[in-house]
Amino acid sequence: MKTRQQYIHDLFAHEPAALRAIRAAMNDPDDQISVPPEDGRLLQLLVSMSGAKKIVEIGTLGGYSSTWMAQALPDDGVIYTLEHEPRRADIAEKHFREHAAGKQIEVLRGRALDNLPALSSKGPFDLIFIDADKVSYAHYLDWAEANVKQGGLIIGDNTFLFDSVLSNETGDRVRETALAAMQDFNTRLSNPAKYISVMLNTGQGMTVAKRL
Ligand SMILES: C[S@@+](CC[C@H](N)C(=O)[O-])C[C@H]1O[C@@H](n2cnc3c(N)ncnc32)[C@H](O)[C@@H]1O
Repeated sequence: MKTRQQYIHDLFAHEPAALRAIRAAMNDPDDQISVPPEDGRLLQLLVSMSGAKKIVEIGTLGGYSSTWMAQALPDDGVIYTLEHEPRRADIAEKHFREHAAGKQIEVLRGRALDNLPALSSKGPFDLIFIDADKVSYAHYLDWAEANVKQGGLIIGDNTFLFDSVLSNETGDRVRETALAAMQDFNTRLSNPAKYISVMLNTGQGMTVAKRL
């Protein structure tokens, strides 16, 4: 019998050619994309359902998840995506030229925590997707809470943190500081006084919260 994840993948993971090309190009073992196509489709769906026009993504890599979101972005919409590794920022910009023509996607180079304060002037934002260094998730959430519009979405990826949020175990892969940041992130977003929110049982865990 198939697993639930396999069944969902087989039915819903149609990867458009543009996204397939980006995945194929990210073949350096250091640059592996951890978002499967069905999670990309989920991001596209969330952009489409929320009507988001002004989006921030923290953690660009090769532009795979941004390009999924761009598939639902209206022509007058914009995605600001933050990446601190110049090589990855270059690759992402190339991918946006090749696979997201006509969409406005701006790569902000440098440490996200250095760039976010200036980005606030472009807000408030309709959707903020957090997918970078786990140890900073609580800081990213501080910024997101201050800069998402009322009714906007805050989304975090990898929020099971390799299941450490369940086991409370740390090790080489998960440091204590990252685990503490992720516990804080999920706990704060689970607050029904501030959010309508859920944690989705995707492969890596995705926390989705609508700001009340
Ligand atoms: C998981 S990958 C992002 C994947 C991407 N969202 C996707 O699904 O296609 C995380 C990215 O965040 C970047 N990153 C890590 N720490 C960062 C920081 N402090 N500031 C900006 N970018 C950072 C990494 O270089 C990496 O490219």
